[in-house]
Amino acid sequence: MNLNDNIKKILVTQEQIEKRCIELAKELDKDYCDKKPLILSLLKGSMPFTVELTKYMTIPLEYDYMRASSYHGGTVSCGNVAVSIMPSTNLQGRNILIIEDIIDTGTTLSTVVKILEELHPASIEIATLLDKPSRRIVADIKPKYVGFVIPDEFVVGFGLDYDELYRQLPYVGVLKEEVYKK
Ligand code: PRP
Repeated sequence: MNLNDNIKKILVTQEQIEKRCIELAKELDKDYCDKKPLILSLLKGSMPFTVELTKYMTIPLEYDYMRASSYHGGTVSCGNVAVSIMPSTNLQGRNILIIEDIIDTGTTLSTVVKILEELHPASIEIATLLDKPSRRIVADIKPKYVGFVIPDEFVVGFGLDYDELYRQLPYVGVLKEEVYKK
């Protein structure tokens, strides 16, 4: 089986992602100069974007990870979002840049930001590869760094999954309806 065969159309190409990440990295280098940002990657979907974006950054930075997903009986929950992995870094006084693959309703990030704020960082900003503003429920989630604004379509690839598959595709594509409407 070839996962590419289940893609109806490519929405954002590998080349477009690379070009946009180079632009965003330049902006981040400037904004975070002398701030040693903590790049906080929200697992699992943000992994490819975290790597692609930060490989073009030249300033000193650190990585850490957090896992938040829709609540299915995870260890810590807030609203309907479960946080199963917390960053191991002491966040007090740090400049945190949260990395997301996609912002949809904003529920996940709203919960994550509230949890992080209690740990007294110096700042929290959000970088997301994709933004679907038409789906937003939580109005106060406004990412400062956005790769691409996309329409409300079922997208996979570059970290985004359907049933845990398709994350490794080097582009963002729209899944054929027959794949998820069986
Ligand atoms: C996806 C995505 C965001 C969230 C966006 O995560 O990575 O974190 O949903 O949706 P929202 O804005 O409506 O909250 P998911 O819970 O599927 O976990 P994953 O990153 O492991 O795929």
